[in-house]
Amino acid sequence: METQTKQRNSFTGSIGFVLAAAGSAVGLGNIWRFPYLAAKDGGGLFLVVYLALALTFGFALLITEVAIGRKTQESPLTAYSKISKKWGFLGIFSFVVPFIIYPYYCVIGGWVMKYMFSYLAFQGQVAVADGFFTGFITSQWQPIFYTVLFAVLCFIIVYKGVEHGIEKYSKILMPILVVIVIFIAIYSLFISHTDEAGVTRTGLQGAAVYFIPNFEGLTFKGFLTVCLDAMGQLFYSLSIAMGIMIAYGSYMKKDVNLGKSVNQIEIFDTGIALLAGMMIIPAVFAFSGKEGMSAGPGLMFITLPKVFNSLGKFGEFIGLIFFVMVMFAALTSAVSILEAITSSMMDKFKWSRKKSTLVMAASTFVVSIIVCLGYNVFYFDLKLPNGSVGQILDILDYASNNVLMPIIGLLTCILIGWVAKPKTTIDEITLNGEKFGRKTLYVVMIKFVAPILLFIILLKGIGIL
Ligand code: PHE
Repeated sequence: METQTKQRNSFTGSIGFVLAAAGSAVGLGNIWRFPYLAAKDGGGLFLVVYLALALTFGFALLITEVAIGRKTQESPLTAYSKISKKWGFLGIFSFVVPFIIYPYYCVIGGWVMKYMFSYLAFQGQVAVADGFFTGFITSQWQPIFYTVLFAVLCFIIVYKGVEHGIEKYSKILMPILVVIVIFIAIYSLFISHTDEAGVTRTGLQGAAVYFIPNFEGLTFKGFLTVCLDAMGQLFYSLSIAMGIMIAYGSYMKKDVNLGKSVNQIEIFDTGIALLAGMMIIPAVFAFSGKEGMSAGPGLMFITLPKVFNSLGKFGEFIGLIFFVMVMFAALTSAVSILEAITSSMMDKFKWSRKKSTLVMAASTFVVSIIVCLGYNVFYFDLKLPNGSVGQILDILDYASNNVLMPIIGLLTCILIGWVAKPKTTIDEITLNGEKFGRKTLYVVMIKFVAPILLFIILLKGIGIL
């Protein structure tokens, strides 16, 4: 008998799935944002709160999305309506978010490329000059050029498909990334730097600042800020609420242990975040003391090149491997976003992978160009509801991360916790008779705790809290 339906793409096994999903989760958030928040929020205190939330809140949300994907065997745009007919609108949200994020993620990927090539051409010192970063992003053609390079790489990987593209490249890039991160983290501990005032600081002292909880002057309000920061970071770091984990879950074979794989993704993502802190905090601390850590967004593109430069010739080598590693992290994340929207088109309109990838890459590219021009031709300053001031990139980032993603997360909890009931996902998680150790915790999380936390994140995002 001839089968009518085409076999769905799939990962070859559990390692392929875990590495691809970890590739998505490990991104700029782990390498730049996590260390920055940890330094700001009292080191070890932030780490403890983050870990506690990862094991409960993060786990519940991540396993829910993967289970929805594998159960429905559909991509985000069509998966929700298969869970419950009336909830198809959530699929549209889950398509719109990655469609908004992908264009600007490519632009940032382009910035990373620029730095990587500067170090490759032994021009790392140039990146240290005052105004280098601003000069680059405000120039008219350079950012577009590097964005194209980055977007073409993503396009090729997604075009090749799940097994021969995403899985294959994740299996190559992620292990290299881990080795580089561990290497720099260890090296960072041994740095010692004497500043103009004659003060010598070491990486080891910086590591102490990172790991030892700092309760000095901690108020209840301060503690709440730490919790809110940790929650928001966790949510973003696990690539939740943008359809990605649904798409990847839909490529997971039915005989793979879902719960175990999700644990492994979490360990991978959190482990890399912790190591990224070990890599960056001691180095920046040795170079400029505690104040250096408040550099915020400029940390990666402005402060770190200065740190590398202060380390002489070997520092340039570290700079090179650092930006190669960041490139890998950004690439595997960007690929997952493009895959989420591509697979949605394939399932919704029954387009071929080739056609879907082409249409999605081309249409998002137009937005990428507008984002690049946001720093010159279309330049303006807009005050956002959360108090920050930004350009087009920041507006897209704000709308997706602070508003749409918490809403999707919240609605997903309501759908699974109250409408379709947790049994829907639990049945999928225990499909082959696997034990689900944290089942009660999961039910409590998805029905009560996670929706409340997401609602708080949303209030904070829109500037009410
Ligand atoms: N999870 C990624 C990180 O930690 C962020 C990301 C955002 C990934 C959007 C995919 C899509 O950096």
